[in-house]
Amino acid sequence: MQAYLLDFANFMLRWLHVIAAIAWIGESIYFVMLDNGLKKPKAAEDREKGVFGEMWAVHGGGFYHNQKYATAPAKLPDDLHWSFWKSYTTWLSGFALFVTLYMFNPGFYLVNPNANWEWAANMSGWQANVLALVFLVGGWVVYNELCKRISPDMTRDGLLSIAVAVMMVVVAYLSVQMFSGRAAFLLTGAVMATAMSANVFFWIIPGQRRMVNAMKAGETPNPLDGKRGKQRSVHNTYFTLPVVLLMISNHYSFAYNHEHAWVLMSLFIFAGALIRQFFVLMHAGKIQPAYPVAGVALILVAFWLGAPAGQPAATDRDTADEGAEFEEVHALVNQHCVACHSREPTQPGFAAPPAGIAYDSEDQILSQKSLIQQVVASKYMPLGNMTGMTDEEREVIAAWSE
Ligand code: HEC
Repeated sequence: MQAYLLDFANFMLRWLHVIAAIAWIGESIYFVMLDNGLKKPKAAEDREKGVFGEMWAVHGGGFYHNQKYATAPAKLPDDLHWSFWKSYTTWLSGFALFVTLYMFNPGFYLVNPNANWEWAANMSGWQANVLALVFLVGGWVVYNELCKRISPDMTRDGLLSIAVAVMMVVVAYLSVQMFSGRAAFLLTGAVMATAMSANVFFWIIPGQRRMVNAMKAGETPNPLDGKRGKQRSVHNTYFTLPVVLLMISNHYSFAYNHEHAWVLMSLFIFAGALIRQFFVLMHAGKIQPAYPVAGVALILVAFWLGAPAGQPAATDRDTADEGAEFEEVHALVNQHCVACHSREPTQPGFAAPPAGIAYDSEDQILSQKSLIQQVVASKYMPLGNMTGMTDEEREVIAAWSE
């Protein structure tokens, strides 16, 4: 029952998370587009009122006329639309998802028994849970300190971008050394996503509140609040594409179980940021194809690097004896997979066959031959190597030819 409850909660949370993220990121992309697409106001009276830029758009059967005031209009409207719940809902539902899936089963999902760092390979489940939390909070603390120390008055934002880029490579590297590949990709994405939401929570919204309060009190708002809000929004813009990629990476074990997974991850992160840069500039009227070309080039490098080293060489096994070979494979699958991958899993914590894959019959095993070989060779399965599959046993699966 507990497993079913967790599965169901996971399903519903995922729904909420994706919807909230679409709303948040959609709005954020919209505002970046709007900001970059603003034209000087045509009407002299608008310019006198302090309108800094405007955009005309057609949508939903009507025409929209957006105007941006550089600092503030003479009088603040009463009904000002604020945007923050979309961001908070995305983070909260994402974190809840992480808890229901990863933190309820850290032994399977967080710990990497083949980790390069021995202490990480031997972590207990709760240690892995604590480490994951420290990782998320620590990511935000380091990022926030970089922003505060390198560019406190927003004059060295270029240098800051480089520092944040280097930080993300370090995050990718550390996550891969400490956690299972799948969790490493997710956690690296979550470090960026947490920074994005925390930017909204700790800087962008409080800064806007201070500006609004100053204006209500008849004072001039501190321009640093506006600039800092912009600095953090810009970071959020470049985080969006990489975050979404890492969040949807959970089925692509060729990437996260690769021996250079952190390099692949870094390539994808930079590719996403470069591609985003193209659109940011495009909305400002500048077409610079060099950015997406560089982004795609990085993806191609990832493709080349991630390519499997080739099928294991044909073996000297007795190919005339294929029947016996499958029996051996079948026995290994029964021993190492069926506790989870069965219509009625006996492994505690599983209510239904994971990923919908059951190996109760020979046909089911035969029909999944290449997938089985792939997940066993990459050591993604058995999950968390809970059944202690040996390298020799993995070779038998790799050599299975019929
Ligand atoms: C401890 C439980 C457990 C064991 C043992 C286990 N698996 Fe899995 N398996 C899972 C879970 C959970 C998933 C879903 C993971 C996900 O959503 O990415 C999964 C997913 C898979 C997938 C789909 C991968 C994908 O990319 O969607 C395959 C194939 C697979 N397992 C094969 C195997 C094989 C072969 C074995 C035995 C060598 C095995 N599993 C042992 C729990 C297990």
